[in-house]
Amino acid sequence: ARLVVLVSGSGTNLQALLDAIGDDPRGFGAEIVAVGADRDGIAGLERAERAGLPTFVCRVRDHATRDEWDHALAEATAAYEPDLVVSAGFMKILGRGFLARFGGRIVNTHPALLPSFPGAHGVRDALAHGVKVTGCTVHFVDDGVDTGPIIAQGVVEVRDEDDEGALHERIKEVERSLLVEVVGRLARHGYRIEGRKVHVGE
Ligand code: GRF
Repeated sequence: ARLVVLVSGSGTNLQALLDAIGDDPRGFGAEIVAVGADRDGIAGLERAERAGLPTFVCRVRDHATRDEWDHALAEATAAYEPDLVVSAGFMKILGRGFLARFGGRIVNTHPALLPSFPGAHGVRDALAHGVKVTGCTVHFVDDGVDTGPIIAQGVVEVRDEDDEGALHERIKEVERSLLVEVVGRLARHGYRIEGRKVHVGE
C-alpha cells in the first residue's frame, strides 16, 4: 500500500512508521511515498528528507481561503496516488474537499481516549479534568473533529506528578506503536467500515 503521511511537528509518529517499514518493507505491507505538512521548518520534514522521501508544504496563509488551502492539500496529496493517508500529528482540520477525495482512507492518531477530549489539546484537557487513565486513539477521519470510527486505542496511566509534557511523552510511546500496528494491519489485510465499526482483514 502507498502511504502519504501528514505532519505538523516533531514527526516521531512518522519516524516510527519509517523505522518499522525500513526494517521490513515487504513484511510491513506499505511504503511511505510522500510526507506533507502545513508549515515549514519542522522536524517532521527533516525526518522525511533524511529518509529520501518527497515532501510538500501547504500553508494556510498562502491561500486566499481555507477551501483553497484544502483543495491545494488534496491536489498535492493526490499527486502521490496514496492508498491511505496517515495524519500523524497533523494539526489542521481536513475540509470537505479533502474528505470527498480521500474519505474512508484517512487514518488519524489522537493523544486521548476518544470520544473524550477531542481537539487540539487532548492531553492538557484530560490532565485538567483529573482523569486517572487516558491514552491514545487511532481512528478513521470523518467530517467531524476526532469523531470518526475508532480502529484501536491504547491506555496510559496518569501519574500525580504528571505535567502535560511528561504525560504526552508517555502517551506518544504507546501511540507510536499503536499507529505502526494499525497501519500495518490495514495495509496487509484490508478493512471495511460499517457505520462506526471497522472490520480489519475479514
Ligand atoms: C501526537 O501525540 C499526535 O497525536 C498529536 O501531536 C503529537 C504529534 O507528535 N496530535 P509527532 O509530531 O508525531 O512527534
